[in-house]
Amino acid sequence: MSPSSTRIAVYPGSFDPITRGHEDLVLRSLHFADRVIVAVAVNATKQPLFSLEERVALIRQAVTHPAVEVQSFDGLLVDFARRVGASVTVRGLRAVSDFEYEFQMALMNRNLAPELETVFLVPAFDLTYLSSSLVREVARYGGDVSQLVHPAVHQALKQKFRK
Ligand code: PNS
Repeated sequence: MSPSSTRIAVYPGSFDPITRGHEDLVLRSLHFADRVIVAVAVNATKQPLFSLEERVALIRQAVTHPAVEVQSFDGLLVDFARRVGASVTVRGLRAVSDFEYEFQMALMNRNLAPELETVFLVPAFDLTYLSSSLVREVARYGGDVSQLVHPAVHQALKQKFRK
């Protein structure tokens, strides 16, 4: 049980797979949160490349900070956030194209849980073009993604797409 003064942030997503951009945001969240829970959605994508267990395991390998934990969740994010005592949910904003969906989601979450604040973080400049879907696509066709993901993720992608 955490003391009530502990500020817990939830960073939800599909993480299929985690990228250097996600890792950057997890660490940035520690500037204002004492603990960050990376929350991997069970049903966010219908056909993820990596299973839930694989996604969780890869995040645990990529982010080893002691104040960061990884959990999976099913159902509504706001219910999960309440369960773990989070006061903040973190999302990344890379480009204007992200904004509409993120804004809608933040407002819906506020409607469902007014006590939960959404904080948008801007990733490091050289990671703004990164997304899991682009990483998957480049890796699928044999492109080099070694700079874009943790070595464990790189290895896992190579195994997935091994002919
Ligand atoms: O990485 P993604 O796919 O953009 O993450 C989307 C995610 C998992 C954060 C979002 O789909 C979500 O919160 N799903 C849980 C179900 C839920 O609460 N839906 C209502 C959101 S307003």
